[in-house]
Amino acid sequence: MDRRLALVTGASAGIGAAFARILASHGYDVALTARRTDRLEALAEEIRLRYGVETLTVGADLSEPEAPGHILDHLTAHGRTVDALVNNAGYGLPGAYGETLWAEQRAFIQVMVTAPCELAHRTLGGMQQRGFGRIVNVASLAALIPGAAGATLYAASKAFLVKFSQSLHLELAADGVHVTALCPGFTYSEFHDANGTRALVSAATPTWLWLGADEVAAAGYEAVEANRAVCVPGAPSKAIAAVAKALPEEWGLALMASQGSRFRKL
Ligand SMILES: NC(=O)c1ccc[n+]([C@@H]2O[C@H](COP(=O)([O-])OP(=O)(O)OC[C@H]3O[C@@H](n4cnc5c(N)ncnc54)[C@H](OP(=O)(O)O)[C@@H]3O)[C@@H](O)[C@H]2O)c1
Repeated sequence: MDRRLALVTGASAGIGAAFARILASHGYDVALTARRTDRLEALAEEIRLRYGVETLTVGADLSEPEAPGHILDHLTAHGRTVDALVNNAGYGLPGAYGETLWAEQRAFIQVMVTAPCELAHRTLGGMQQRGFGRIVNVASLAALIPGAAGATLYAASKAFLVKFSQSLHLELAADGVHVTALCPGFTYSEFHDANGTRALVSAATPTWLWLGADEVAAAGYEAVEANRAVCVPGAPSKAIAAVAKALPEEWGLALMASQGSRFRKL
């Protein structure tokens, strides 16, 4: 059977794993990549049994510049091309910019900016030729509100993904290739455990502000199918994005100066 293939980065947890399940439930074969291959294998088996689609797993560390090439070479060796790409892998790097190592920031840019750009660049030609493609760049609500002190390049990298997605969305509109920046607010996943901010963020935020990874991925799937350039899942996050857009810049920064430390670790 000729099924389409979706490549999901950061598929070993959270939003990426949820996206892989949703894509498989819509009939895609899925290629799962992340560093923790035991997690990928377990998810691949679950998806195969539950949805009857084919799965591929590729262990890769996206902080390594050659990783996007390796991932796509692995798929090519299995005779597969990418019809849908979900650039989801990501993390937060707490701390003040000058107090972190450049090597950490360089790796961060590689994972959060360069790898998604490279994967899209390497796959979109095939999508255009076939007249079908889907690209979801998982950005963040942080891209749509003023920057906060701490995790300095996080909002910047996500704002980059939003602008990148909007431009690509326009460039590929006539080719059957849909491009969406997905901008979730607080989402239940391993994200805040991985960066050590779980206690801080849980204490600072009401539960109604949070969405499940499944809800976020479902909103992203729906948005890319509808070819919406930017998707903010959930009413509270939509309201925050709208207020942030309407707010004079200096008011927004003043708000971040007083409130930012409630959810960002310096
Ligand atoms: N959770 C939130 O509140 C929230 C809000 C807005 C946006 N986001 C964004 O949503 C995306 C998914 O995050 P999540 O919330 O699902 O967090 P998560 O549960 O921690 O999942 C992050 C995924 O990224 C992968 N990853 C991290 N570093 C990697 C690297 N160097 N190479 C390859 N894969 C890497 C992890 O896999 P391995 O560790 O196995 O490599 C994991 O699969 C991220 O881009 C994040 O910025 C999250």
